[in-house]
Amino acid sequence: MSKSITFKVNPGGSLQGEARVPGDKSISHRSIMLGSLADGVTHVKGFLEAEDALATLQAFRDMGVKIEGPVNGELTIHGVGKHGLKAPEKELYLGNSGTSMRLLSGLLAGQAFDSVLTGDKSLSGRPMKRVTEPLKTMGAEIKTTEKGTAPLYITGKAGQLQGIDYTMPMASAQVKSCLLLAGMYAQGETSVTEPAPTRDHTERMLSGFNYPVNKEGNKVTVNANGKLTASEIDVPSDISSAAFFLVGASIAPGSDLLLKHVGINPTRTGVIDILKLMGANIEVLNERIVGGEPVADLHVTYSRLKGIDIPEELVPLAIDEFPVLFVAAACAEGQTRLTGAEELRVKESDRIQVMADGLKILSVNAEPTPDGMVIQGGNPIGGGTVESHGDHRIAMAFSIAGLRANAPITILDCLNVNTSFPEFKDLVKRLGLDISVMEA
Ligand code: S3P
Repeated sequence: MSKSITFKVNPGGSLQGEARVPGDKSISHRSIMLGSLADGVTHVKGFLEAEDALATLQAFRDMGVKIEGPVNGELTIHGVGKHGLKAPEKELYLGNSGTSMRLLSGLLAGQAFDSVLTGDKSLSGRPMKRVTEPLKTMGAEIKTTEKGTAPLYITGKAGQLQGIDYTMPMASAQVKSCLLLAGMYAQGETSVTEPAPTRDHTERMLSGFNYPVNKEGNKVTVNANGKLTASEIDVPSDISSAAFFLVGASIAPGSDLLLKHVGINPTRTGVIDILKLMGANIEVLNERIVGGEPVADLHVTYSRLKGIDIPEELVPLAIDEFPVLFVAAACAEGQTRLTGAEELRVKESDRIQVMADGLKILSVNAEPTPDGMVIQGGNPIGGGTVESHGDHRIAMAFSIAGLRANAPITILDCLNVNTSFPEFKDLVKRLGLDISVMEA
């Protein structure tokens, strides 16, 4: 039986000192996938040892890949080559991880064996047609439930997939990556056009493994003619985990924090841009390129934030950071309005509804809309008991709200913080938040 974890946060405090948050989740997933399909041995440093990335790791072990580690974020992957995966003996269980399921569906559609992908309750409720429909037009055979959800039953169609030229209806890096991985096994070219820029870690890492990728404007193209050559990967810290501290230090008077070695890929830095528009003090220091990804140290100090209309073009570039950005908005003077973010409704939870419900309990004036939220900020944040609905980012966002609350906040159902950031509670406590954890 799984445990239940409750966070209790006492109000006030500030965030001070230096920290390196764990490795990037998106890059960690992709390091396992491409390292497994490469010819040769790939070494990974900075791998995220959290449940989502470990679910991907286990799936590849289940398909016959020898992977040593992780030990202190280090892995050795003995690549089996593009055609070397073996049929798993049982279903591949992917826990809470949408990235694992959506990317694997593309990769497995063109294999010489069948597979079944399953997940936990949250993942089993998330839309999969966005990947299965375009894959079917490539000739894939994938069964979902009637609602278009997992389990996914995939019949391997080795040598039978056809490339497509697909324009995504939504800005999704998972859909793009899924189709590019399928395209590595399809006849002809597979092109994906995105309506707005989304994270490009798949394209970057394919190039890092010497796999030919062509990018023109908002269109990425691959074909089946390449092979992957083993590589060295140094995973930067996850800006999506750093975001909790960027907001925490921005809203808590007296804060002064240095976050080291954070990935600042321009398809991920919307949170910095949005916070700066709100008046945050964030300095990007010591910019460098590590293993094909831009990295920097981020220095953040307290500042009085003001409400803004969040530019819609920044939404896909900050898509995972809105739970904590809503907390920033609650502390900002005046109104903050988010639009064009309907994708938030199909994340690990409905992040618009769940955040609005919790913020209201904390006396924040937050009105959900179909595609965003309107928050009147600057009034005191109260205490109370809020539900995270098993969503890691909701649990961490409400913890950060405690820095500016005037009474204790209890956050229920926090076990899934382990999917992306198991060290969160220890780290945020060391940096200055009065948080305690209750297990039952
Ligand atoms: C991810 C893409 C995003 C993001 C998710 C990770 C990825 O999802 O929300 O946490 O690694 O490709 P969408 O592609 O559904 O927007």
